[in-house]
Amino acid sequence: MTATAQGIEAITDRMFPFHSRHLLSAGDLNAVQAADLLDLADQFVALNRQTNKTLDLLKGRTLMNLFFENSTRTQSSFELAGKRLGADVVNMNAKTSSVAKGETLIDTAVTLNAMRPDLLVVRHSSSGAAALLSQKVGCSVINAGDGQHEHPTQALLDALSIRRAFGRVSGLTVAICGDILHSRVARSNVALLNTLGAHVRLVGPPTLMPSAADRWGAEVHHDFRKGIAGAEVVMMLRLQLERMQGALVPSTREYFRFWGLDREKLAFAAPGVRVMHPGPMNRGVEIDSEVADDPEVSLIQNQVEMGVAMRMAVLASLAARLENA
Ligand code: NCD
Repeated sequence: MTATAQGIEAITDRMFPFHSRHLLSAGDLNAVQAADLLDLADQFVALNRQTNKTLDLLKGRTLMNLFFENSTRTQSSFELAGKRLGADVVNMNAKTSSVAKGETLIDTAVTLNAMRPDLLVVRHSSSGAAALLSQKVGCSVINAGDGQHEHPTQALLDALSIRRAFGRVSGLTVAICGDILHSRVARSNVALLNTLGAHVRLVGPPTLMPSAADRWGAEVHHDFRKGIAGAEVVMMLRLQLERMQGALVPSTREYFRFWGLDREKLAFAAPGVRVMHPGPMNRGVEIDSEVADDPEVSLIQNQVEMGVAMRMAVLASLAARLENA
């Protein structure tokens, strides 16, 4: 048996049809469903490290990437994931589509739906956009980021990176730091990390902390050093300047002084701490290059690699459910 044939067997052994037609929110996954997806993604990591990275699990299926917001890594990650599973992948950049001519979100979705895609990956600047679309189309919808709300595949790939680095997620202390207010990554991560049994802390200035953060199921900290003290994972978030109305931070320089991660502050975390960032990074604003580029500490490139495998697991599971429908 070739390595790839063995790989396929291991993969199909671990494949379960997704519990729902859509993936809209990280909170929709229970601990068993999340662990199944992570196990499946582990198999795809192995496949992606081989010379022949393609399977035909999604042969005949059409995946549409519908991105109303700029994205480099998420869009290309879904595109590669679809192609490696043998799907036909179409990238719709909303800036060059009829949306620019005034077509509404729903019109666009209904039009695309008439072309009979099987999987629709949506990114939009409005919270709730993916959920709204899922009610209007016949295919599976995957939320690839809706406003400040959710980004479930980011939380899954983050959990995969953590689990591979530590062998577990449960019992670890994860400090999510920075611009929590504008971050869909933070919302999805708090939900999934709680489901997987991690202790979650939210660390940031009061102006960048949602007022209801203490009800998210995380400890809230407004002192960076105390917030990351003893944490095994420090997850830095991008200062989302494009989503800010008014001056929530005095200057990016001052922000770095109090909230930017450098070696001095990182020393407060647990020995063996790993640093994460969903990208794109503002170097010198929320994170110092010395930390971001240290292979002993940083999981940032690893997160990008895990992204493709994780999205393959999500697409394959959703398609397996479509088959059974
Ligand atoms: C994040 C996003 O777009 O939500 N990035 C990503 O998906 N890799 C975070 C961000 O934009 O800061």
